[in-house]
Amino acid sequence: MEKQDEQWTSRLGFILAAAGSAIGLGAIWKFPYMAGMGGGGAFFLLFIVFTLLVGLPLLLAEFVIGRSTGKVAIPAYKEIAPKKKWYLLGYVGMVSSGIMLSFYAVVGGWILLYLYKAITGQLMKPAGGYGELFNNMIANPYEAVGAHFIFILLTIIVVARGVKDGIEKSSKYLMPGLFILFVALIVRSLSLENAIEGVKFFLLPDFAKLDSKSILFALGQSFFSLSVGFSVMATYSSYLSKKESLTRSAYSIAGLNVLISLFAGLAIFPAIFSLGMEPSDGPGLLFVVLPSVFEKIPFGSVFLLMFLALFLFATLTSAFSMLEIIVANLTKGNSEERKKWSWIWGLTIFVVGIPAALSFGIWSDIKIFGLTFFEASDYLVSNIMLPLCCLFIAIFVPLRMKREVLMEELQVSTSWGKKMFVIWLMLLRYLVPLVIVIVFLNVIGIIGPK
Ligand code: ALA
Repeated sequence: MEKQDEQWTSRLGFILAAAGSAIGLGAIWKFPYMAGMGGGGAFFLLFIVFTLLVGLPLLLAEFVIGRSTGKVAIPAYKEIAPKKKWYLLGYVGMVSSGIMLSFYAVVGGWILLYLYKAITGQLMKPAGGYGELFNNMIANPYEAVGAHFIFILLTIIVVARGVKDGIEKSSKYLMPGLFILFVALIVRSLSLENAIEGVKFFLLPDFAKLDSKSILFALGQSFFSLSVGFSVMATYSSYLSKKESLTRSAYSIAGLNVLISLFAGLAIFPAIFSLGMEPSDGPGLLFVVLPSVFEKIPFGSVFLLMFLALFLFATLTSAFSMLEIIVANLTKGNSEERKKWSWIWGLTIFVVGIPAALSFGIWSDIKIFGLTFFEASDYLVSNIMLPLCCLFIAIFVPLRMKREVLMEELQVSTSWGKKMFVIWLMLLRYLVPLVIVIVFLNVIGIIGPK
């Protein structure tokens, strides 16, 4: 039962699902506040460099692992390297994915709460301002845990049905919708008074503002936002037919991801400077700034509602992939088992995530190495587990996979294709491990509040 019963119907379906996995909270919510805390333009530039030179080669590496074997991550590692322990990478990917989903769903819950407030008219011009509204909302244990639960429930329902049906059809219409709304937001944000200061902050690099911590965070952000390291992309690409081009898919996904991060920055930073807020305000940044911009747009409440619905969708498509990798690896293509494991793991992840959901309220004082449960889960996954998995994937592919198989999977035929292939292998073999090890060494001594 190890071959897939799931298949994408087209390359577009695959790209949308894989881009759906990649584009989510990482680009839209996390990137702006990380860039805000990490020095603005210099952080953005570094993020682009890491995405192109480190994340993209890794994305292709995961693609070839999945598609060459036609199997989801763990059986794929086993087929490529029988009798070796490389398949453990698949297990670590599953655990990382589970921990990630446990705090990801907390933020997904915030979007649900905002959506509810927008529908019931509580979100426009709140008396104490958006900051107060947001902070009270995330501190309320019933709201935070309840919404976290509903978000996980939605994820379980879709993954239990099978990702192809659940994701492919809806992605085709909803992802372009998100782009269009972002453009409207950017236009409004850029036309606010003093907006140029925000543009300068976001686009003009000032390397003096970078420290070892922000370099690590930029690397972690490139993995987090591309969904590499979890073996999610290896699993998704195993559902892709042999005809389709992996390189074009990888370029599109990395390109879309950088583009949406750029959009998020351009929508948020000009508004921050215009409204006299602080770019380093942390996780609430998007939730506080964007409603203030929508407020200044005609029919703003309608657009805000649409934005939240699309934002929720983008977040859900990433969440699906996190549960999918766990379920797919346990069921290995058996659809009866799929339902059972989706529920078991989904509910377990909900329970694991409760401390993260309470981290902004009644458990905000409970700290691990100076970090709340929410921050610690994010730190562990983004800055330790993902870089480690990525390091091993970069070693695995050139070491264990035959050159002919790699060339066949990447459809290398022209002389330009051969050059690119050699560059890709060199990046995987040398640059990716080197960058991860150097940046990783910086972890030592810098664990502490962000
Ligand atoms: N890549 C996913 C995101 O950025 C996890 O939201």
